[in-house]
Amino acid sequence: MQREPHLTNAALLARRQAAIPRGVGQSHPIFIARGENAEIWDVEGRRFVDFAGGIAVLNTGHRHPAVIAAVKEQLDRYTHTCFQVVAYEPYVELAERLNAKAPGNFAKKTIFLTTGAEAVENAIKIARVHTGRSGLICFGGGYHGRTLLTLAMTGKVAPYKTGFGPFPAEVFHATFPNALHGITVDESMASVEAIFKNDIEAARVAAIIIEPIQGEGGFNVAPPELLQRLRALCDAHGILLIADEVQTGAGRTGTWLAVEQSGVAPDLITMAKSMAGGFPISAVVGRAEVMDAAAGERGSGPLLLRADGKQMDRRAATRVVVRLANKAAIKKHISPHSLRHAFVTACLDAGVPLRDVQIAARHSDPRMTTRYDRARGNLDRHANYIVVDFIEGPA
Ligand SMILES: Cc1ncc(COP(=O)(O)O)c(C=O)c1O
Repeated sequence: MQREPHLTNAALLARRQAAIPRGVGQSHPIFIARGENAEIWDVEGRRFVDFAGGIAVLNTGHRHPAVIAAVKEQLDRYTHTCFQVVAYEPYVELAERLNAKAPGNFAKKTIFLTTGAEAVENAIKIARVHTGRSGLICFGGGYHGRTLLTLAMTGKVAPYKTGFGPFPAEVFHATFPNALHGITVDESMASVEAIFKNDIEAARVAAIIIEPIQGEGGFNVAPPELLQRLRALCDAHGILLIADEVQTGAGRTGTWLAVEQSGVAPDLITMAKSMAGGFPISAVVGRAEVMDAAAGERGSGPLLLRADGKQMDRRAATRVVVRLANKAAIKKHISPHSLRHAFVTACLDAGVPLRDVQIAARHSDPRMTTRYDRARGNLDRHANYIVVDFIEGPA
């Protein structure tokens, strides 16, 4: 390959050091000019075999022709619409395919995000809202990302967590088994029981999250027996089991997902990295009823934020809806005017400042009576959607 004119690794390194903070590490002092399958060429024309693959992101190699063709084809049609605003078929098709591939003889649903940490954070949000519990049990040596919650969950202080605390609460670490160091599955399970005894009762634990094979922790394999016993423990206590397959997924361990090799079906699975052959997509796949527990971006308090400039929490939003439902229950059809009035007073009752309520009311469309009537039988599940329907108007 031709040497890139005027570019040397040393000159680029100097520019990098001047322009980019040192927190963004660099394993190799080279700059890539081109990559193809398992090989890369640096800016000085030297050829390398790439064993790193972007840290588990390139199972299909650099620029797999099928991946590149699909991306080019997509770019010629549209780029971003915000799926919640204007949907597109490939999202649905990919969800269907992942639902079919994930283990477990039950209905599944999938959401897509951008990074692995984002998938993990969303899995936790879903688990918390589904169970109504806050506690999380993770494992020593585990790695779940670099955002503050996923750092709290990560079970390795150096080099990830040093200096970044305090971290979100209610996160506890059990011991990962390790044959090399003589740590058995029994000891690992006992460490979970110890958390129930010393730190948080099982009834307040939302989820146990585990990598079927720890990556950053040193490529430690979770024995199938551990995953099976965790499954049983979770079932006994109403805790969700989450497999973090960000690194192990997309066929890296011989099966599509590593957890398949244990015969265990987790409630939620996080995926990212190689699932998109070098492009940034992540996913949470899980039991349909668990995945549906969160009302969603459009339907939750934060959407109220868009209309009124302030966040209304879920409980406050639910109070608003309950009040509206009571009003509609008394009068089967209430006029748009009285619905708007009910909305404003309910928001004020829920503690939203008057100015924000006025802005929200101006954005609101009171023609939501029908949908709202239809949904009121299932207030808990639809509560936040109803508020959003009210604010945004019917689709
Ligand atoms: C198991 C696991 N979970 C989560 C993450 C975070 O993914 P991302 O770096 O895409 O946020 C990683 C990244 O290495 C990972 O290996």
